[in-house]
Amino acid sequence: MSGGPDALLSVRGLRKTFGPLEVLKGVNMEVRPGEVTFLIGPSGGGKSTLMRCMNFLDMPNAGEIVFGGKRLCHEDGSVFHAAPERVLRAARSEMPMVFQHFNLFSHRTVLQNVIEGPVMVQRRRREEAVGEAEEILRRVGLGDKLGHYPDQLSGGQKQRVAIARALAMRPRLILFDEPTSALDPELVAGILDTIRGLADNGMTLIVVSHEMGFARKLADTVHFIADGTILESGPPERIFDSPENTRLLGFIRSILH
Ligand SMILES: Nc1ncnc2c1ncn2[C@@H]1O[C@H](COP(=O)(O)OP(=O)(O)OP(=O)(O)O)[C@@H](O)[C@H]1O
Ligand SMILES: [Mg+2]
Repeated sequence: MSGGPDALLSVRGLRKTFGPLEVLKGVNMEVRPGEVTFLIGPSGGGKSTLMRCMNFLDMPNAGEIVFGGKRLCHEDGSVFHAAPERVLRAARSEMPMVFQHFNLFSHRTVLQNVIEGPVMVQRRRREEAVGEAEEILRRVGLGDKLGHYPDQLSGGQKQRVAIARALAMRPRLILFDEPTSALDPELVAGILDTIRGLADNGMTLIVVSHEMGFARKLADTVHFIADGTILESGPPERIFDSPENTRLLGFIRSILH
């Protein structure tokens, strides 16, 4: 089974276990180009694991993922197959992930952090990568921080470096896992604005976030994930204003209180 012809990313029957723990129990979702998808749900529900499986930081146990027309994993009979590592690596660079805790190289400058992927993974020419990185860093407001090290930056600036690093890969889709939850409150709005700018420019995004106001404004589709399954999906107005699933209703109430 494959995604519709217009899907950029298609996930079918995705399963993931950690030892005896079944964390993803058959997840289905599709993302079209330019679409903004939010994943919401209670802690431990499997949101991060789903994202990590999408770009093979965690290896799924079963199911199919098709990205940009390439099948990254599938089942043949009941045997699970993942594509060769070079295919997964290419997909990972076209679908980079931005983490809650930035995950920058602490002993490298801002510029070195941003050109690492283009030069080492994508084998692009260094001068070209530097020129493009400088332009991206200017765009995210860090044009004057190229030679700084991560510990010389604020949390919001570090997250901008992480976003610049993702953009430098010339991604087709960016995965954000709680990009603002490690930030001081006064820095959150700036990062949300940066993400909104990406969406406005047509970038395809999947975002895990507890910022419900942000999800409501930006999302095309919201998936509510709990206990390793998507319990309800829909446009933000439906999800937030007239949820049908009782767990989603409870989740929304708990967040509003
Ligand atoms: N590497 C791992 N080894 C063992 N169990 C794991 C691992 N990673 C995640 N889990 C377990 O999988 C479940 C889902 O975790 P996950 O991090 O995907 O949840 P989440 O929805 O992102 O939660 P949160 O909102 O707190 O970030 C949890 O029970 C977690 O303990
Ligand atoms: Mg998580």
